[in-house]
Amino acid sequence: MARIKTKILVIDDDPKVSWILSEGLASSFEFVAGRDGIEGIQMVSTERPDLILLDIKMPGMTGLEVLEKLNKVEGRPEVIMISGHGETKNVVEAVKLGAAEFIDKPFDVREVETRINAVLERVKLRREVSDLKKELQSKSNYSNFIGDSAAMHKVKALIEQVADSELTVLIRGESGTGKEIVARSLHQLSGRSNAAFVKVNCAAIPRDLLEAELFGYEKGAFTGAHKTKQGRFELANKGTIFLDEIGDMPLELQSKLLQVLEQQEFVRVGGIQNIHVDVRIICATNRNLEQAIAERGFRDDLFYRLNEITLSLPSLRQRKEDIPLLVNHFLEKYNKLYSRDFYQLTPEVINQLVSYHWPGNVRQLENMIKQVVVRGDETIIVELIAASSTPATAHTTATQHPAHSAHLPFGADDSGGEEAEVTADPNDLSLKNRLGKTIASEEKKLISEVLTRTNWNRRKAADILQISYRSLLYKIKDYNLNSK
Ligand SMILES: Nc1ncnc2c1ncn2[C@@H]1O[C@H](COP(=O)(O)OP(=O)(O)OP(=O)(O)O)[C@@H](O)[C@H]1O
Ligand SMILES: [Mg+2]
Repeated sequence: MARIKTKILVIDDDPKVSWILSEGLASSFEFVAGRDGIEGIQMVSTERPDLILLDIKMPGMTGLEVLEKLNKVEGRPEVIMISGHGETKNVVEAVKLGAAEFIDKPFDVREVETRINAVLERVKLRREVSDLKKELQSKSNYSNFIGDSAAMHKVKALIEQVADSELTVLIRGESGTGKEIVARSLHQLSGRSNAAFVKVNCAAIPRDLLEAELFGYEKGAFTGAHKTKQGRFELANKGTIFLDEIGDMPLELQSKLLQVLEQQEFVRVGGIQNIHVDVRIICATNRNLEQAIAERGFRDDLFYRLNEITLSLPSLRQRKEDIPLLVNHFLEKYNKLYSRDFYQLTPEVINQLVSYHWPGNVRQLENMIKQVVVRGDETIIVELIAASSTPATAHTTATQHPAHSAHLPFGADDSGGEEAEVTADPNDLSLKNRLGKTIASEEKKLISEVLTRTNWNRRKAADILQISYRSLLYKIKDYNLNSK
């Protein structure tokens, strides 16, 4: 319910103080009083005041100690200290601890009103500035969604068409193609942009915690549930919830999600009451959901419900004409961020970037450009590209695996461009040959190390190495690696 009057918590051992203020300023503010530090601190969470008046000198916990404790509360209300004569030292200390204003005892009620209004005005201004910043940020987020290719024009047109609808959008695309940017843009361009955008990574939260995380739980619902907690759906009320990696959601939860989608209401874990929410749902996945359905890992009814609109993001290798644009964008971004001055790549390097097949898509390109800027050296691109591509082994040439390009050396791929070929001729002293071998042995070492570290979890290893899963499988075979 909307509160009409500003609520002020007075923490003072002298009850006269809050009484005088209530008498004099009742028409402007609502006062609640705490008689000592401990009670006052509790009332900050139970009463949720807009402002606190805090006496410095109190028996038990002093005002300064209370202020120190309040500083641990995120987003605490502003504090005006009430100080007596001769407390200069305490005043200095209170300023350091972030007190907003001071009132001397004895005080004039009108003077107190002026001080309170001044602080409230500052709070309001600060909030407006931060809202403005957020708005700017959100606008720039979408304008930082780079792409001038026909494929990206289609994506952008679709985003703009569906953003302000209530349709559930399923964003699909390989890892690193920008699914999260798209989800955020859909929210920012919608009528819900003033409310929360809540992201849930279904793959990152342990299975048994996911339900409580999404729908909240009641006190005592399970061991450790000491108090009732709202879930992410409640937090996203009036806003958008982004269910990332939806393909990893356990089957049991899929049916509960379907019910929420149908009815816009649910029950907290351990609860009985239906909770109604008004939430727009956006999902993303880089998994093949049709296959998951065939394998009974994903409910088909949920799939059709989520899939009111599908937004498929092209891989970077399908829109190579965007690579120079993205390179400039990331050069700009990281030069600014790290105060560097490395704005230009040579045409040869740009060509190399364009002919690479980008298994990690835009994220991989972004990481690469970041490193170039930080180190001020574009030649590292050759190493970086080589490190994520397998040179062919002694018996393998690039043309033997035409169906998959990820293992080709120096990023040559099957979309044209030069196909590098490394032969095993010991008399071949060419740089390409020597470099190829060195890179191959380094790469073998690196892959085997990452596989050991991930306990041979190939998906995780591919993620860490920033190569596709398929390309990792080929590399394992090519290098004859095994888990024993
Ligand atoms: N079109 C784009 N313009 C600018 N930056 C982009 C673009 N696409 C992706 N990026 C950047 O690439 C990185 C990866 O993007 P994002 O996290 O949205 O990918 P994703 O598809 O969600 O990947 P994953 O499936 O691995 O979660 C981010 O830093 C993002 O800012
Ligand atoms: Mg993502």
